Amino acid sequence: MEILTVPIKNKSYDIFIGSDLLSNKRIFDDNITSDQILIVTNEKIAPIYLRKIETTLGKKNIVSVILKDGEDKKTIDSFSEIIDKLIENKFNRESYILALGGGVIGDVAGFAASSYQRGINYIQIPTTLLAQVDSSIGGKTAVNHKKAKNMIGAFYQPKCVISDINTLQTLPKREFLSGLAEVIKHSLIMDYKFFTWLEKNIEKLIKHDEESLVFTIKRNCELKSSIVAEDEKEKGIRALLNLGHTFGHAIETITGYNKLLHGEAVSIGICIASKISNKLGLLDNNSLERIINIFQKAQLPTYIDKINLEELIESMYLDKKIDLSGLRLILLNDIGKASIKKAPDKKNLLSLIKNSIEK
Ligand code: NAD
Ligand code: GLY
Repeated sequence: MEILTVPIKNKSYDIFIGSDLLSNKRIFDDNITSDQILIVTNEKIAPIYLRKIETTLGKKNIVSVILKDGEDKKTIDSFSEIIDKLIENKFNRESYILALGGGVIGDVAGFAASSYQRGINYIQIPTTLLAQVDSSIGGKTAVNHKKAKNMIGAFYQPKCVISDINTLQTLPKREFLSGLAEVIKHSLIMDYKFFTWLEKNIEKLIKHDEESLVFTIKRNCELKSSIVAEDEKEKGIRALLNLGHTFGHAIETITGYNKLLHGEAVSIGICIASKISNKLGLLDNNSLERIINIFQKAQLPTYIDKINLEELIESMYLDKKIDLSGLRLILLNDIGKASIKKAPDKKNLLSLIKNSIEK
C-alpha cells in the first residue's frame, strides 16, 4: 500500500492507495472516530461495494443514501436527499459521511458534508479512475446548476482518501478512459517526464497493468497535492488544474450533462486549448501533434462537431474563472507548462474557437 499526505495547513490528510483496501478494517478504524456513519453511494455502486464496506466497518451505526446514477443527478435535489437522511438520523458534528463512488458522488456528498451543521467529517472512497487521480483530492465539492456546472459548492477537505484499485476492475471501459483525460491533463500542466512516460505506457494502463496503475494514481495524487497545498482556494496556481475545463464544462452544460462523460468533454476541451495555444504562438506544432496523439491513443474524443458556438461562448462566460478583468483561459506554453491568460474579446474568442473545435 502507498500512503501520501496532502500537506494543507491545519487540514492535512492521508491518501491510501492499494489493493483490496475496502476490506482493510485497520484503515477505517484508524480514521473514523464515531460510530455514526452515513455512506453515500449510487444505485450502480451499491450492489457491488456497499455490503463489503458495511462488513469491514462492523457493527457501527451505519445508514446509507443510494442516489440515482449520472452526472445529471449531481443536483441540489440529491444534496437535499443526503441532508434529509442526516437530519432523520440525528447526525451530529462528530459523525462521518463516506462518499463511495466516482466524482459525482464525491462532489455531492462532500458538499453535503461541508454544509450540514456547517461542516461534518467525510472520507472519500473513490471508485473510478477519474476520482482516484483527481476529484477525491483537494476538497472541491459541488453540485451543478442547469445553466452552469459545479456552480454551487464549497472548498472542504476530507479526513482521508481511500483508493482501492480493485474497484477499477468493475468500472466500464469508457469510464476508465474518461479518467485518463485528467491523468493526461496533470502531465500537460506540470510534468513533461510523466507525459513521456504516458506516451510509452498508456496501452499498458488501458490494460489495467497493476504496477502502471499504482504508479499513475500515485504520481497524479502527488502532482495535484502539490498544487492544492500551495493554493487550496484557487486564488492563483490551482486554476491551472482547470486546463480544458472552461471549454469542457460549457460543452457538458449545453449538451445537458448526459451526452459526453466529464473526461471526454475535458479531452475535447484540452485539445481546443492546445490548438488555441498553437494559434497564439505559444505552443509549437510538434507538441500540438503529440498532445492530440496521446488523447487518440487513450481512445478519447479530440474534437466535436454540430455544436452551437454562440451557446458555447455564453456558457463559457458563466465560468468561475471570470473576474473583473474578464474571462481567463488556461493555455499551454509547452508540454508540462501551463499558464493563465486573459481571453481575447468575445468576437476574437469566437473565431479562435471556431477554428479549433472541429477536426
Ligand atoms: P461518475 O461519478 O459519474 O462515475 C462514472 C460512472 O461509473 C457512473 O455510472 C458510476 O455509477 C459508475 N461507477 C463508479 N465506480 C464504479 C465501479 N467501481 N464499478 C462500476 N461502475 C462504477 O463520474 P466520474 O468520472 O468519476 O466523475 C466525474 C465528476 O467528477 C464530474 O461531475 C466532475 O465535475 C467531477 N470532478 C470533480 C473534481 C474535483 O476536484 N472535485 C475534479 C474532476 C472532476
Ligand atoms: N479539478 C480541478 C481542481 O481540483 O482544482
